[in-house]
Amino acid sequence: MSEERTFNIAIDGPAGAGKSTIAKKVAAALSFIYVDTGAMYRAMALYMIREGLTREDAKDSAAFRAKVAEKCRDAHISIEYRDGEQIVLLNGENVGGLIRTAEVSAMASLTSAVPEVRERMTQLQKELAEQQNVVMDGRDIGTVVLPDAQLKIFLTASVEVRARRRYLENLERQKKGADVAPDDLDLEKISADIAERDRNDMTRAIAPLRQAEDAHLVDSSNLTVDQVAETILNLYAVKKNLPQVITAKTAGFCFGVQRAVDEAYDEARKAREGHSATYTFGPIIHNEIVVEDLRRKGVGVIDDEKELQGHEKDTVVIRSHGVSRELQTKISASAGRTVDATCTFVKRIHQIVEEAGKRGEQVVIIGNHGHAESEAHVGWAWPGAAARSASAHFIPAVIIETPEEAYAYDGDPAVPVCIVAQTTFNGERFDKLVAILRQRGYNTKITNTICNATRERQSEAREIASRADVMIVIGGKSSSNTAKLYEICKRECERTFFIQTVDDLSPDCIAGARVIGITAGASTPKNIIEEVQSYVRRTDF
Ligand code: F3S
Repeated sequence: MSEERTFNIAIDGPAGAGKSTIAKKVAAALSFIYVDTGAMYRAMALYMIREGLTREDAKDSAAFRAKVAEKCRDAHISIEYRDGEQIVLLNGENVGGLIRTAEVSAMASLTSAVPEVRERMTQLQKELAEQQNVVMDGRDIGTVVLPDAQLKIFLTASVEVRARRRYLENLERQKKGADVAPDDLDLEKISADIAERDRNDMTRAIAPLRQAEDAHLVDSSNLTVDQVAETILNLYAVKKNLPQVITAKTAGFCFGVQRAVDEAYDEARKAREGHSATYTFGPIIHNEIVVEDLRRKGVGVIDDEKELQGHEKDTVVIRSHGVSRELQTKISASAGRTVDATCTFVKRIHQIVEEAGKRGEQVVIIGNHGHAESEAHVGWAWPGAAARSASAHFIPAVIIETPEEAYAYDGDPAVPVCIVAQTTFNGERFDKLVAILRQRGYNTKITNTICNATRERQSEAREIASRADVMIVIGGKSSSNTAKLYEICKRECERTFFIQTVDDLSPDCIAGARVIGITAGASTPKNIIEEVQSYVRRTDF
C-alpha cells in the first residue's frame, strides 16, 4: 500500500465497553469519519423491507437467506458528513431519518445474520476506509474488516463496570419517564446477561469477537470517556510523530461549581416556562462566557445588596462560594424564592467558624482578601465571637493571606484561634501561614478546609507540568484557583501559559513541544477545554 493511504482506526471490544461513544469522540477530535456500522446494517435492512421482504418471510429461513443474499449485492450504503451531521446513504438517498424504527431494527437482526450481508458490508466498509480517514467500531473490525488499519484498539471493561454503567443508564432513562423493565434495573441480572453475551460473542461462528494481535488493549474500567479518548488520541499521535497531550482529569468544573451551574440552567429553563425571573447573586462562576450564556437564557446577575430591591417575585440563586449569614438573611427576605447552591464544603466552613465564634474563639481564615468565599466566612464567624469579645486584643475573625500578615497578627494570645482555609487556597502556603501562627505561640485549632477537588487539581497539575514541555492553564483572569494553578505549574514548567480561551494560544506557544499538558480552573467549562485540546492536536499550522 502507498504511503499516501488513508489512516484507519479500528475499535473492537465487547458490548457495553463504550465503543461507539469513544469512536465518535476520537473521530470528531481528528476530523475523521465515524463509520456507524450499526447504521449501515439498518440501512441494509431498510433496503430489504423496500424490496418487499417481511419478518414473516424469515420463517422459511433458507428461502429468506437466499433472497437476502441475492438482493444485498444491489444495495450501496455509505456514510458521509454534511454540516457536521452524519448522513447514511442508501443508493444515494439519505435514509438517516428512516432507519431507527422498530421494524427496521427487527429486520436488521435477521438480515445481519446472513453471511452474504456481512460480506457485502465488509466490502462497503473497506471501500469507505480506502477513500477517507475513518474510525470504525464493531467486533471484527481489526481482524476482518480492516486488518490493515494503522491503529487497532481492543476496548474493554470488566463485566461489573459494564453492568453498573448499563444499570445507571437504565435508571436515568426511567427518571426521564421511560418504561424500564424490572430486569433492566436488576444489577445481578444485568451482569449475568453481559457475561452470557460475551461468551456468545466470542464463540459465535460469524464474526466472533477477538482481539487482533496488533491491537492495543485499553481497559476503560477505571477511566472516564475523556480519558479513554485521550489514550487513543495519544496512540495515534505516536504513530504520526505528533506531540502527546495530557489533560488533567481534574480540569474544569468541580462538583460544587457543576451543581451551581446546573441549578442556574435549571432555573433558566423554569423562567422560560413562565415561572419567576431568575438572578444569580454575583456571577455564578468566574467565567464570562458561561455568565453571558446564562444571561442570554434569561438569568440576570444581581451585583450587590443594593440591587436586591424589587425582586420580591424573582428567584435568586446563591452561588457555590456562599454568602455571609447576614447577606443570606437579606436575600431570603428580598427574593420571592432563594435557591442556595452554596457548595457543601463551603457550608461546612460556615458551620465550623460559627461554632468557634459561639465558643468565644478567635477565627482566622487563611485566604484571599476580597475573595467572596473568604469574606463570607468572616460573616459567619463574626456575630458569635463579637458577642464574647473580652480583651482589647480579641480579634473575632480576620483573613490572613501573606506571611507578613501572619507575623503581624495581634489576636489575644490567651484565646484559642480557630484556623480554616478558603477552599481554593494553595496548600503549601496554608501550611506556611499556619506554621508562623503556631511558632508565635498561639493556641491554634486547625481545620484544613482546602477542598480535595482543589488539592487534587493542584497536585495533578504539578505532576503533569513536571513532565510537560508546554503546560496550558485555562481559566478566567479573575479566578483565584486558576491563578494558583498557573503559579504551581510555572514552577515545574517554564513554558506555562495562562489562557482564557483558545484564542489566547498561538502556534508559537506549542512549537517544538513533545508533551503538552492541559489543566483548567474550577470555573472552566468543558467545551473551552475541548477547543484547546483540538487546537494543540492540530497539524496544519
Ligand atoms: Fe466546592 Fe471544592 Fe468546588 S469547595 S465549589 S467542590 S472547589
